[in-house]
Amino acid sequence: MLNVRLFQMKSFIPMPYEEALAPRLKIADQWLQSGSGKGGEFTGWVNLPRDYDREEFDRIRAAAKKIQSDSKALVVIGIGGSYLGARGVIECLCSPNYNLKKKDTPNVYFVGNGLSGDALYEVMELIGGQDFSVNVISKSGTTTEPAVAFRFFRERLVEKYGAAGADRRIYATTDKARGALKSLADRQGWETFVVPDEVGGRYSVLTAVGLLPIAVCGVDISGLMAGAAEMMEVCRRGGSDCPAWRYAAARFQLYHTGKKVEILGSFDPSFRFMAEWWKQLYGESEGKEGKGIFPASVEFTADLHSMGQYIQQGERILFETVVRMGPSGHPMAVPRDESDGDGLNFLAGRDMDFIRDRAMEGTLLAHSEGGVPNLIVETEDKSPRSLGQLIYFFEYACGLSGYLLGVNPFDQPGVESYKKNMFALLGKPGYEELAGQLKARLEN
Ligand code: PA5
Repeated sequence: MLNVRLFQMKSFIPMPYEEALAPRLKIADQWLQSGSGKGGEFTGWVNLPRDYDREEFDRIRAAAKKIQSDSKALVVIGIGGSYLGARGVIECLCSPNYNLKKKDTPNVYFVGNGLSGDALYEVMELIGGQDFSVNVISKSGTTTEPAVAFRFFRERLVEKYGAAGADRRIYATTDKARGALKSLADRQGWETFVVPDEVGGRYSVLTAVGLLPIAVCGVDISGLMAGAAEMMEVCRRGGSDCPAWRYAAARFQLYHTGKKVEILGSFDPSFRFMAEWWKQLYGESEGKEGKGIFPASVEFTADLHSMGQYIQQGERILFETVVRMGPSGHPMAVPRDESDGDGLNFLAGRDMDFIRDRAMEGTLLAHSEGGVPNLIVETEDKSPRSLGQLIYFFEYACGLSGYLLGVNPFDQPGVESYKKNMFALLGKPGYEELAGQLKARLEN
């Protein structure tokens, strides 16, 4: 079971910190459990691992099988919460090099998560003449980046398979009733999956948003849900043994001692996109009303040779959370070299995990000595079950953290500002007045 350890924390925060915060944590926990806190209408993810729609889950598995059988590639179109979780899980459990591997499941390409023409063009080139399907994901059904990308890939599908053939290869994950994407899907007869009303984008990886692309890659999505359900039970019990309580309490205390930036680190490069997912989850949930810990991420040991300098000796506003997902699947012992020209025979026969673990201990000691407190999040292994636990743990701790901070952890009003400006500058009808003001400002 997932565990949170505080590494030599005594010199950074008063102990026992949970007791000091227990009354506030209890209230935050009650708000999450009852949906009675700020943004409570978006706490549908709290019981999702138990209450998820089994009929839809079976349809997700059936759709994944169909895509595996008729496509060499799946184009996943979405941004933010409609993208990062699926990519995080796929890279973590299958590999960041998933598309390059020999396998009997389709390649997966993520598009619509930016506005680069080159990126779109490249994916079209990579797919070439291969059979492909599209999973377009947008809760609102109106987000510009995925909507634009979808136009390109839909046109490609129609060219290749004809209008009716294209309709059989498009899977739309969106609101159950509202939005342009839902209307289009109904009109065209695309298979649709639902982003539940009460689950916000960044908490939606365990809905069809994440599960369909993840299942297409052959990951055991039942295992993912089972792990999340286990952690859900742990969080329901709460208390000082609950890892989400411990994590939320520690980071809250650290924030109030001036540690304004949390860096999430892992010694496993496959964790990179899980860290991106985590950054969105915490950044969008906490960063508002002039408050919030800034979430950043690093990849160890690579970043020890770049960001390591800042972490060790820069502004003392950092704390670090290291995620450790059990031993590697492939033991790799360092070869012996009789000439020992590189002087590395002291490591001969040692497994890479052994070396990594010593590097991790050395890093934690150095960073905490340098004034950067450390939290360690450990899972038993790198399996769907453990990742399900980790996802739910981070989500629950995020909800608690937002409430401890006094903000609504489920809205993102700040995301709208750039959208309004972009629409105005692109000439979207209805934004004429703003367009005039913005153009005048750009000219100054
Ligand atoms: O967390 C969120 O709500 C956002 O990051 C959204 O997921 C993102 O903006 C994409 O929105 P949509 O799914 O409506 O296209």
